[in-house]
Amino acid sequence: MGPEEFREAAHRLVDWVADYREAVASLPVRSKVGPGDVSGLLPKEAPERPEALSALIEDLDRVIVPGLTHAQHPRNFAWFPSNASLASVLGDIVAAGIGALGISWQSAPALTELEQVVCDWARKLCGLSEAWHGTIADGASTACLVALLAARERALGGTPGSQREGGLQASPVPLSVYTSQEAHSSVEKAVLLAGFGAANLRFVPVELPSRGMDVGALQAMMDEDVSAGLRPAAVVATAGTTATTAFDPLAGICAIARRHGAWVHVDAAMAGSALLLEGKRELFSGIEDASSISWNPHKWLGSVLETSLFYVKEPEALVSVMATDPSYLRSSRDGAVVQYRDWGLPLGRRFRALRLWALLRLEGAEAIRGRLQRDLVNAERLAAVVEAAPGWRLVAPLTIQTLCVVHEPAGLGGEELDAHTLAWCEAVNWGGGAHLTPARLDGRWMVRVSIGSETTEWADVEALWALMREAAAAVETGS
Ligand SMILES: Cc1ncc(COP(=O)(O)O)c(C=O)c1O
Repeated sequence: MGPEEFREAAHRLVDWVADYREAVASLPVRSKVGPGDVSGLLPKEAPERPEALSALIEDLDRVIVPGLTHAQHPRNFAWFPSNASLASVLGDIVAAGIGALGISWQSAPALTELEQVVCDWARKLCGLSEAWHGTIADGASTACLVALLAARERALGGTPGSQREGGLQASPVPLSVYTSQEAHSSVEKAVLLAGFGAANLRFVPVELPSRGMDVGALQAMMDEDVSAGLRPAAVVATAGTTATTAFDPLAGICAIARRHGAWVHVDAAMAGSALLLEGKRELFSGIEDASSISWNPHKWLGSVLETSLFYVKEPEALVSVMATDPSYLRSSRDGAVVQYRDWGLPLGRRFRALRLWALLRLEGAEAIRGRLQRDLVNAERLAAVVEAAPGWRLVAPLTIQTLCVVHEPAGLGGEELDAHTLAWCEAVNWGGGAHLTPARLDGRWMVRVSIGSETTEWADVEALWALMREAAAAVETGS
């Protein structure tokens, strides 16, 4: 395809995307397709000859759109907001169009330097100090793995267990890692991938009602491990847990970790966007004492997916673990520039910063803060309505924008209540008018209402509440 043909096709496709966004509110939020429905509509072999763009567009409408659960729908309250603001989409189009090869500073100087600048813009918007140096990872899972690899080397550097020597297999002492019982599953995954072993991962209990990590328990577990000959290497603290958006007390955690020389990684994947709001910074109190932080502008903030900000105090700790130096990647500028390949796992990186740069420039921080604030207000309004409704209850404190809700008909408890909860949630989802996700909390099911899609207004939240009550009443009365 040459540039002229591309120009014509791209205009049509941009029109298609704009039409999709305009129409998305009229579609069922959750996809109704079953397993194999999408692949069953597609040819088994790739075409030998070029097809017309119109055929591709036809399949977008016929096959792809019905096969989507619409994250950009104003009545999407499932999982967490996954906003792909159209301003950010523009940056992503440019990234694909330029096709820069991010393998070294020299291979695309603008790619590296824009990433540095955008990470710094975001740092300042979050009120973080100059001590932090940022990069963009594909996700919080990767950032956590990278942080744990750096923590491992920090604990073992200078011993036979250093990765440059025998690695963990030659470690003179076993290393332990700590995270709260409510941490995201990616933390356990990262601990296992980094080679610490499940037996050396401690799940620290949480305090109620906050559901933040119990710092006293952390201290006791670390002391016990040290007495047993282990070395605490890292704590992964969560600022905004997945189920209830609970915040671990970062100041206390960092103070205890410091005594043991352990790395503290803060996983703020979803809630990090709240750092933009001064009124919510208290929740992150102590964050400056951590060793690394990651949060995802590709969730609530509005950047297209695979934009996860990862900040460290000591980039050298990453470089010491990740750096490679093959001759074909060297240039005369080495030494004077940042090589982002040495801060993470991949060599070749996409021009990731463009999507966040475009979002911040074309929307402006003020409007973004206004939108986040709107979502907080909507969440508070819904919380008040739920708490005032007979039979309805919030089962976790509202910290930002996610409500954890149960409907408890008189006389129902235990597994019967679980069945009721799952049934009314499924009824809402099946109807297509809104989308919610259930989750387990203290051994029982509850339903999460995650407010924060870019186009969600109070009217959408009200409509959701009507659907919830209707579904719960229908399930209760068996109608
Ligand atoms: C607290 C938390 N950490 C990590 C993740 C994983 O993020 P990612 O998909 O960017 O790897 C999530 C996603 O739900 C999360 O809520």
